[in-house]
Amino acid sequence: MLFHQLLSSYSVRLPEQFELWHAGASLLAAGLTALVVDYAYMLYMRSKLPPGPFPWPVVGNTFMLPDNKPWIWFEELSKTYNAQLITIWIGRNPTIWINDAWAASELFDKRAGIYSSRPRMLVFAELGAGQDNLLNMYTTTPEQRDRWRVHRKLIHYGVGIQSVRRYRQFQNNESRVVAYDLLKAPDDYVKHFERYATSVVSIIAFGRRVESWDDPIITEVIAMMHLAADLNVPGKKFPMLMETFPFLARFPNQIAPWKYGLGKKRAFHFFYALADEAVKKVGHEDSFANYLFSERPKYNLREAEISALTGNLFGAGSDTSSSTLITFILACCAFPEALKPAWEELDRVVGPYRSPTWEDEDNMPYVKAFVKEVLRWRSVAIIGGQPHAPTQDDYYKGWLIPKGAWIQGNIWAIHHNEREFPDPDRFNPNRFLPGHPDNRPFPGEKGYMTFGWGRRVCTGQALAEQGTWITVTRVLWGFNVQRKKSADGKPIEVDIFNYTNGLNMRPRPFECSIAPRSEEIRKTIEREGRQALEELEQYRGETKYRMSTFYSRNNLAMDLYGDGTKLNRTQAVFNFGNTGIMLVMEGSTTLNQRSVSLLILGAGWTSTFLIPLLKREGVKHAATTTDGRDGTIKFRFDPRSTDNSAFEVLPAAKTVLITFPLKGAGQASRLVQGYAETHRDAAAAPKPSYIQLGVTSIWNAPHWQDENDAYDAANPRAVAEDELMRCAEASVLSLAGLYGADRQPRHWVRRVVKSKSDLKAKGALHVVHGADVARAILALHRNFTPRKRWIVCDMHVYDWWDLVQDWAMQTLTNPEDVEETELDSQRELLAWVGELMVEQNVRALPRDTTAVGRRLDGRGFWYYMGIWPTQGRVR
Ligand code: HEM
Repeated sequence: MLFHQLLSSYSVRLPEQFELWHAGASLLAAGLTALVVDYAYMLYMRSKLPPGPFPWPVVGNTFMLPDNKPWIWFEELSKTYNAQLITIWIGRNPTIWINDAWAASELFDKRAGIYSSRPRMLVFAELGAGQDNLLNMYTTTPEQRDRWRVHRKLIHYGVGIQSVRRYRQFQNNESRVVAYDLLKAPDDYVKHFERYATSVVSIIAFGRRVESWDDPIITEVIAMMHLAADLNVPGKKFPMLMETFPFLARFPNQIAPWKYGLGKKRAFHFFYALADEAVKKVGHEDSFANYLFSERPKYNLREAEISALTGNLFGAGSDTSSSTLITFILACCAFPEALKPAWEELDRVVGPYRSPTWEDEDNMPYVKAFVKEVLRWRSVAIIGGQPHAPTQDDYYKGWLIPKGAWIQGNIWAIHHNEREFPDPDRFNPNRFLPGHPDNRPFPGEKGYMTFGWGRRVCTGQALAEQGTWITVTRVLWGFNVQRKKSADGKPIEVDIFNYTNGLNMRPRPFECSIAPRSEEIRKTIEREGRQALEELEQYRGETKYRMSTFYSRNNLAMDLYGDGTKLNRTQAVFNFGNTGIMLVMEGSTTLNQRSVSLLILGAGWTSTFLIPLLKREGVKHAATTTDGRDGTIKFRFDPRSTDNSAFEVLPAAKTVLITFPLKGAGQASRLVQGYAETHRDAAAAPKPSYIQLGVTSIWNAPHWQDENDAYDAANPRAVAEDELMRCAEASVLSLAGLYGADRQPRHWVRRVVKSKSDLKAKGALHVVHGADVARAILALHRNFTPRKRWIVCDMHVYDWWDLVQDWAMQTLTNPEDVEETELDSQRELLAWVGELMVEQNVRALPRDTTAVGRRLDGRGFWYYMGIWPTQGRVR
């Protein structure tokens, strides 16, 4: 029975098994054939592509990739094959690596028309922000190109080369705060740089600054960037292994730990919420978020696009910029000899009483070269950011570059090439000094490729370069950055190769000593730092949102890359659907309208130049007039009144500018007292600085005088100014004759020259343009000089006779539309000048300065402030 059963079961099974075996064998044969065909195709392609290591079927060269820093291996391969380009097969896809500046320039810059798309990037793009993000966008079809152009255009408005000049004021202030922070806590230099870089992009994007380094927007965003930078380095580990086996990306996250939680569009809601909030807030309507919302209907911008455009500023701009500054500190420690020429230049051009400004850049070629070398020496985006992809098959030196291929510039190899950069690991600014023996030809005018190429070149380049220049230059000017000394007094070595492994790299933590270079410099840093904080006060309007993405992978980022600052905020929590992303509400919007940086008492003619300048420079200000016109505060100063109520309408201010004349004793002290008594509690300006606009006529001796010479101390205006400087922190700008717009000296002639003897008495004329007065006020506000009286003129000594003759000639040679009486008047003036020249034995005009009486030397103010008059000579 048993035997029968066995037999019967066998008699059924044998044919079934055979069929299965047969099917399996056929499948295997088909699979093997496909594999052989596929591999044959790979090898056929390999014969046409740039050289590279021999690929295996299916996996290509993936498992040959080194664990760390593959860019160094690519560089070595390039030397081994003696080829500018090499091919590495990631699975069945060839990726091409350019290891040479000239080849990169030829393909990405010169052939930008076809090399400006992106390849398929599974990990970074498809599981990341996708095609909503400019960074990843394909430009293969006309529709894709149009959308990408819209995004570039929008972001250019935000951080393009023209736009970033608008940000100089607050970028400079944030950089002053960095110097101030370095004084107070030099060991925390990394945190200061991260706060600085994040704050600048936050002001641009949302009109709000980041005050403290432990703001979650820094700790979390930077941690996320580090995670992303590490996870996206080509390698044989997950998640990048999905590029070799793309089917693994199809598994749901719950059962696919190799996906690292990718694919959830984690930052999307957070950045959109911040942008949305920024546009609803009063003040700073010029933020990038406001701009995007205003353009939204025109370009039909989706939420994901707005989020990506604002988020990009943080993602692409905060970690990169701060890492560059950390590299700078490392270079200073490792190559102290590079600092000396920079100090020599800074001491000569800037001096200790102010810090550098962008206006100094052209006068400091070595410092300029130094900053370039920072950007070259250890470029942060070490493999040039994202890969490019050609939109059609192309050839370079006979090698095929197939359409859609992943082609990437290896910045490490490019900036490490002995031919362009001899002894490349040495930090040597001389390479960027034209004519220096270390200076070598390099494609493009910049001399480096740190920001990528062609049409995909970094959109934030201008902002990053501007910010790197000002901060590197300021830290160089202010500090001696050197290796720290151990307890036994020996310098602690730093390792110039000890960098992180991410595609945005930065030095691993190292110790260093950062100390002010002199006592004067320390005082300047403190003064400017305090002032910067006050000017930045206007960006203090807080966000009600704080980022806290409490889902597992973000915790991973914080655990791996955060600095231990745990986010433990318990306030109202908003959950966005089932994304796992939460927003935490905190605090409230508290933009302090009761304090300004500069208060103008008496907005008259000068303010027509000053107010537009303050707006352009982002200086928070308020102005008064006696009738409260044009949005000003109604205020009249009555020196005889003891009632303080008039002062109560005034906001607290860091600087109070008095434009109307105070005369004699008592007026200045009354004004200071009234303001002080009504602003005792003002946190923003416990003790304001005062600037009084005065006149140069208090210097009346008939010879050369500058601001340090004796003046007529009995002059009622001088009396009031002196009193002001005694009873408050005050400084006086003694202005030469004001001109500009409708106010032209030529119109004054008939008022002051009624007769030939009037003209005979006229010697020198000193003037200054309203635009330069505005600049002078702003410069003094920023760089205040207590108890100092300055002469402000355009640094010319004009001869009245010369001017009168010139203006008369101009009128007579263009007589159209001039009334006959006026022409007669000008003829008369012309004759008087000629006659006086004969009578007074003046051979030519202008007269020698010794013959024109009082002469003012106005160089001191401009030199001290580090700016110069811009309006040229009067005509
Ligand atoms: C030191 C600082 C920075 C460095 C070294 C850097 C470097 C780069 C590099 C190498 C690329 C790829 C270029 C290419 O594909 O050829 C890139 C792209 C990009 N960068 Fe930057 N970047 C920096 C700062 C910034 C800042 C501050 C922003 C924004 C405010 C920014 C926004 C972008 C964007 C949006 C792209 C993508 C452009 C596109 O695909 O069309 N970057 N960056």
